[in-house]
Amino acid sequence: MTASASSREDDGGFGIYIHWPFCRSKCPYCDFNSHVRESVDQQRWRSALLAELDHYAKTTAGRRLDSVFFGGGTPSLMPPATVAALIERIHHHWPDAPDLEITLEANPTSVEAANFAALAQAGVNRVSLGLQALDDGALKFLGRTHSAAEGIAALDVARRHFKRFSFDLIYARPEQTLDGWVSELDQALAQAGDHLSLYQLTIEANTAFEGAYRRGAFTLPDEETAAEFYERTQDRLARAGLPAYEISNHARLGEECRHNLVYWQGGDYVGVGPGAHGRLTLAGSRISTRQHRAPEAWLAAVEEAGHATREYRTLSAGERQEELLLMGLRLTRGISRKRFRHAIGREIEEAIAPSSMAPLIDGGFLELDEEGLRAAPAGLQRLNAVLASLAA
Ligand SMILES: C[S@@+](CC[C@H](N)C(=O)[O-])C[C@H]1O[C@@H](n2cnc3c(N)ncnc32)[C@H](O)[C@@H]1O
Ligand code: SF4
Repeated sequence: MTASASSREDDGGFGIYIHWPFCRSKCPYCDFNSHVRESVDQQRWRSALLAELDHYAKTTAGRRLDSVFFGGGTPSLMPPATVAALIERIHHHWPDAPDLEITLEANPTSVEAANFAALAQAGVNRVSLGLQALDDGALKFLGRTHSAAEGIAALDVARRHFKRFSFDLIYARPEQTLDGWVSELDQALAQAGDHLSLYQLTIEANTAFEGAYRRGAFTLPDEETAAEFYERTQDRLARAGLPAYEISNHARLGEECRHNLVYWQGGDYVGVGPGAHGRLTLAGSRISTRQHRAPEAWLAAVEEAGHATREYRTLSAGERQEELLLMGLRLTRGISRKRFRHAIGREIEEAIAPSSMAPLIDGGFLELDEEGLRAAPAGLQRLNAVLASLAA
């Protein structure tokens, strides 16, 4: 293990998240903080994002940076010059870990793929493409503006420009059969690099799909079928050498998304841009930060005060522990004893009542050994229920 990997294991690592809230159109399933606007004043947005980086640098500058993540929304719509300016400012404030990862989420359209060379030039070294499906009918249902062929063409461009790339697919869609999904997965594996994100379609509140689903416009696989989709997915990906390292994320060993690992290991991250969350350990306290969510209100607040922090709150010891479990148990390797001790200051057995762990261990949902605490495969599939019993 390299020195940087072992220090990440101790403190969970340190990352920066930058939120770009604009999209060309709003997908009917999506409840992310994403908005469609006729035009965006690029100069003002660039200055405001830079201002929030400067603001958070006041308390965190000098920390060694493991990852930067441009998320959205659709950050592939950002002018590459803005991405370059932000990366340059980040290098000014924070020293890089030797293997600094800089990821940008991209929509796989030809227009955006045309920017990949400039984004790589700006310092982006990993892209995550929202392919969503490799079937034109499914893409239409999901409200995507690209075809499967356009998606694959964008992936080819990404492969040329970035050493590391990943793509997202959404499965357990209406009328999708298990066999249809496994053959789509095979096609995906033929295109894949070292990382894939595979999400089961969920109906989120206040989305167009919520209304359509309620009206009975489509149905989703029942719980048992959805579990079968999940198990077949795990099995196929593990056989292909990309086992799950988290509920929905698969990678070859060592190719996990470092930014996601910062979240799931309970590390620190600065969050800038509308609605971005952050977690910072400052003078022994763990602070939760959240920026103003509405894009225009965020911009106005930053222009007025240099930042649009809406929440800045110290987490209680109970909240810290709850969050570490919530995030860490999503990882197949779970939470190491070392990490738990570093974050909570106690041993796992001292902090969690054996009476709440024992039934979960006996039931095959949780595993506890000299390495640490992790969800067994059956527990990963029912993580919310496992966490609820742990908290009881
Ligand atoms: C912030 S979004 C993606 C960014 C990019 N704008 C795009 O659409 O390609 C992150 C990913 O979450 C997944 N996702 C979002 N909403 C979902 C839902 N309701 N069910 C399943 N997956 C969802 C999609 O795969 C999506 O690519
Ligand atoms: S899925 Fe991506 S492109 Fe679609 S609305 Fe959400 S963030 Fe925007």
